Amino acid sequence: MIKIDHLSTSYSTINGPVHVINDVDFEIYDNEIFGIAGESGCGKTTLLKALYDIIEFPLVVDSGKMILSGEKNGKAFSYETGQIRNTWWNNISYVPQAAQSVLNPIVPLKNQFLDSICKEDKKKKTKEETLKKVADYLEELSLSPDLLNAYPFQLSGGMRQRVIIALATFMSPNVVLADEPTTALDVVVQRGILMMLMRLQKQLKNTMVIVSHDMGVHYQITDRMGIMYSGKLVELGKTEDIFEKPLHPYTKMLVGALPRVGDKSQKTGIPGRPPALTNPPEGCRFAPRCQKATDECRKTVPKFHEVEPGRFAACHLLNDTTV
Ligand SMILES: Nc1ncnc2c1ncn2[C@@H]1O[C@H](COP(=O)(O)OP(=O)(O)OP(=O)(O)O)[C@@H](O)[C@H]1O
Ligand SMILES: [Mg+2]
Repeated sequence: MIKIDHLSTSYSTINGPVHVINDVDFEIYDNEIFGIAGESGCGKTTLLKALYDIIEFPLVVDSGKMILSGEKNGKAFSYETGQIRNTWWNNISYVPQAAQSVLNPIVPLKNQFLDSICKEDKKKKTKEETLKKVADYLEELSLSPDLLNAYPFQLSGGMRQRVIIALATFMSPNVVLADEPTTALDVVVQRGILMMLMRLQKQLKNTMVIVSHDMGVHYQITDRMGIMYSGKLVELGKTEDIFEKPLHPYTKMLVGALPRVGDKSQKTGIPGRPPALTNPPEGCRFAPRCQKATDECRKTVPKFHEVEPGRFAACHLLNDTTV
């Protein structure tokens, strides 16, 4: 469905390129919720932008590409990086990070989306008809059609997010990308948004890609997930397997830091900080924070490979059970 083929991207800066995505290579399947996790600054949003084909200066694709393929209404399609934007809304849609604050506060919600939706809605007759269809769809999702006439500042953060998700799924795209859809919302609202995304995925039987730094979000709704560290993918697998038996030392720390019901032990953060992307270490990028790092880890970049069927990781110490 989505093939990320050895993708490397960088931001051009006056001090030279900052390599943010480094040789990332994996696939996201039809009919799944795929999660992307990792600390702030590891490149999650940049990867999602590349998936959505928002490659605009200073972001540059250095090598590799993305292929979006599938079938809609009995018609097969396939688009590559550079073409994916031709199918925005129809085959792929995007809920950007902090979507609630990227909205223009003085323009009613309907005006911020309707032009794009009308342009793409091939079966449209008039703008009014499309608007009516959108209003019906909102009702189907238990949202008031009046929300379309509201200005963003009149709605709570959670309600704004729901409307944006509704608009992003209105044309039943094969893929929905959502960047931190629950961040900055309180836990009750967070749960409502997650339930909405899950329900929509079941209804549309499409692919959802959810970016979140919150491992709890992944535990609740994703089927498979990838863990990013310093611009690289370090682990990928079924979410339940990752939580049950994390392979990469970084994933072990992320999973170990999660509070669990009944566990009274004190949780510690992950010591140290990710390396600067302007000057990453030579070997494994996690080596400076890994207590078990060897000379090989510090010298050689570990290969991202299939450790067990469907389970990938990049670490030299995968056979070391003490890690
Ligand atoms: N326009 C830009 N120019 C230069 N560097 C950038 C630019 N945008 C992002 N970066 C750098 O790219 C890296 C990855 O940023 P990105 O926003 O993809 O991370 P993220 O994982 O989404 O973080 P967060 O969890 O905080 O949203 C960061 O180090 C950031 O400083
Ligand atoms: Mg981000």
